[in-house]
Amino acid sequence: MTTDTLFATETRTPASPAARAAAPAAAVAQRLDFYAPIHKALRSCMLDTLLRCGRLDVQDSAEMQATLGRLDGLLRFCSRHLQHENDFVHPALEARRTGASWRIAGEHVEHQHHIAALGDLAAQLRAAGADSRPALALRLYRQLALFVADNFQHMHVEETAHNQALWATHTDGELTALHDRLLASIPPADMLDDLRWMVPALTPQERAGLLNEIRQTMPPEPFANLVDQLRPHLDHAAWAKLAPAIGLPQQPGLVCFA
Ligand SMILES: [Fe+2]
Repeated sequence: MTTDTLFATETRTPASPAARAAAPAAAVAQRLDFYAPIHKALRSCMLDTLLRCGRLDVQDSAEMQATLGRLDGLLRFCSRHLQHENDFVHPALEARRTGASWRIAGEHVEHQHHIAALGDLAAQLRAAGADSRPALALRLYRQLALFVADNFQHMHVEETAHNQALWATHTDGELTALHDRLLASIPPADMLDDLRWMVPALTPQERAGLLNEIRQTMPPEPFANLVDQLRPHLDHAAWAKLAPAIGLPQQPGLVCFA
């Protein structure tokens, strides 16, 4: 897989007024955006999980198992994502601009504590008797809402300040090499989980671009199998746009939705 743009998008670098006056808009360089696609995936997973926790029927054991399982998945997703940023992005930033990642690195420590606390609350809810479940579920829902709110603020800083710092201190080739090293560290099962949340969260153009990148690196059958695993998470309109864009038949009639 040429991972040049997998999990990343290209974004126009905001130019200064002087630069805008000196160069036509089309000449402004496009830069690799590490954060945008994976953060869309995270926001989607966070919101889906939060809504599920909010409507959880704590007297329905199957629903409890499914919802808390989804929460476990979200917490693993958040943990490995912040670890990727700690292991790859922050060292690259610090090597060129000391202190550039300190604020966000500190927030990652807080997030790790919050993730552990949410895991503990979920364990308490699983073990609780019927009478104490409603209060515990409401507490879990509120704590998860605060975690999501904090992450939304955090991701905005990364997508703005951190991207600006990365673009100012690294060439496109360096960013692509860094991004490829990060992707190469992700086990296949985690990659599939990431794509499950990322692909539906992207715009139709981003979605087709990502899957066409992947398509160029895989034989047809494994690619079709991958798309089969992602397709149930797309609605009909999304699939109708995606199928022709990635060279697959539309095959109407499949029941969709996550
Ligand atoms: Fe982060």
